[in-house]
Amino acid sequence: MRITVAGIGYVGLVTAVCLADLDHEVTCVDLNKSKIDMLQTGRSPIYEPDLEHLLEKNISYGRLFFTTNPKTAYKEADLIFITVGTPANKDGTVDLRYITVVAETIAQQITNDVIICTKSTVPVGTNEKIKQIIDNLKAGPFITTVISNPEFLREGSAVFDFFYGDRIVIGSDNPEASETMEKLYAPLHIPVIKTDIRSAEMIKYASNAFLATKISFINEIAAICEKLDANIDEVAVGIGSDKRIGNHFLRAGIGYGGSCFPKDTKALAQLAGNVQHSFELLDAVIKVNNRQQSLPIKKAKEVIPSLAGKKVSVLGLAFKPGTDDIRESASLKIMKELLQEKALITAYDPVAVPNMQKELGNNLSYTNDICEALWKSELAIISTEWEQIKQFPLSLYVKYMKDPVIIDGRNCYSMDEVKKHSIHYISIGRPTHIPETVHFNL
Ligand code: UDX
Repeated sequence: MRITVAGIGYVGLVTAVCLADLDHEVTCVDLNKSKIDMLQTGRSPIYEPDLEHLLEKNISYGRLFFTTNPKTAYKEADLIFITVGTPANKDGTVDLRYITVVAETIAQQITNDVIICTKSTVPVGTNEKIKQIIDNLKAGPFITTVISNPEFLREGSAVFDFFYGDRIVIGSDNPEASETMEKLYAPLHIPVIKTDIRSAEMIKYASNAFLATKISFINEIAAICEKLDANIDEVAVGIGSDKRIGNHFLRAGIGYGGSCFPKDTKALAQLAGNVQHSFELLDAVIKVNNRQQSLPIKKAKEVIPSLAGKKVSVLGLAFKPGTDDIRESASLKIMKELLQEKALITAYDPVAVPNMQKELGNNLSYTNDICEALWKSELAIISTEWEQIKQFPLSLYVKYMKDPVIIDGRNCYSMDEVKKHSIHYISIGRPTHIPETVHFNL
């Protein structure tokens, strides 16, 4: 099958590379020339485990191609994946400009019957609009079928998720096209769920909203645990062992970030509003998450009322481990607030420093060495649970910091370990540890 993937961001690139690895001929098209030039040399513009290796392999096997030319990309394609970005507008609605442009371009360039499969996260009803655009503008009497095939790829494990996902959703009103999609994915042996197009579009939003709800729920329980001297980690194990609840997405912390949850929860709330349904539960989920991202500074100021001129280490910049993506990352909010407070920040991350530098410039210091980040610092805020941070001995905080105060936003250390050290340790939903000997330089 000749496949074209339109829009080479996270989803597009991972999908294209993995489909090529299943022995399909895949052409990737994107308007960004420097990105395409880089990909042609086998280098990935994003950090994603296993991706670059598969990229190089499939280019060298002659089944993965990159172009900026729509004519080359869509000519004789049997199947086109739409994977362009669907960013949020200021009011939380979805900006469908790239979807419209790609649909118009496809219509002008196709040369035969084709299945168009949307992986981009789009509001319910969008695939019908895509079909209308293509049918109105198409250059010949070709049969075009539009399918919704949402993606469930997590950054940091996107390649793994492509090959070992929990399910594949195919939303279609054309049984033949559904069968073609099923055959495409058959080598993966992943259960396929077939639905109508609108339900498939809704499954994506509902999945992300539900996962976000689990996170905000556990964060609310964590807030109460703090007041009542209970330990959220133990509570999460206790409730997660009930199969009806499940033990995933119950890690309390400083909230969810990334390119999906914040955007998709707001978009679903908007979508509900459009049909005169006020999604109060989801509004609360979003509100709780905003509060969580502000917790580190609030907790810091309870110990160190003025952060002006204080040296603060921020450990972890990516919105989660395993990625260099900083979009909607808690660290971004934390550092913006710290800059307002006139704190002197040294920020650590193993891979996300260049991206943060592009965002916040040189108003702070950056390092990829934890020891350097902690040197003479008065406050350390852990915002991403990188393995490098989880494995970093607490004794070294004592060695490098001045009267160490640690705000662990991801509960990286066990309370048993914490109690062995002379540190002021504040985490999420667990008792605070204050050493008897500590003296603060307020
Ligand atoms: C998510 C979905 O999981 C994926 O299916 C979808 O297609 C894209 O959006 P991603 O954004 O890559 O994937 O990250 P995910 O692993 O889901 O984590 C999102 C955020 O939630 C992170 O900031 C993470 O730190 C936070 N999180 C996750 C928690 O705070 N607690 C948890 O228990 C789990």
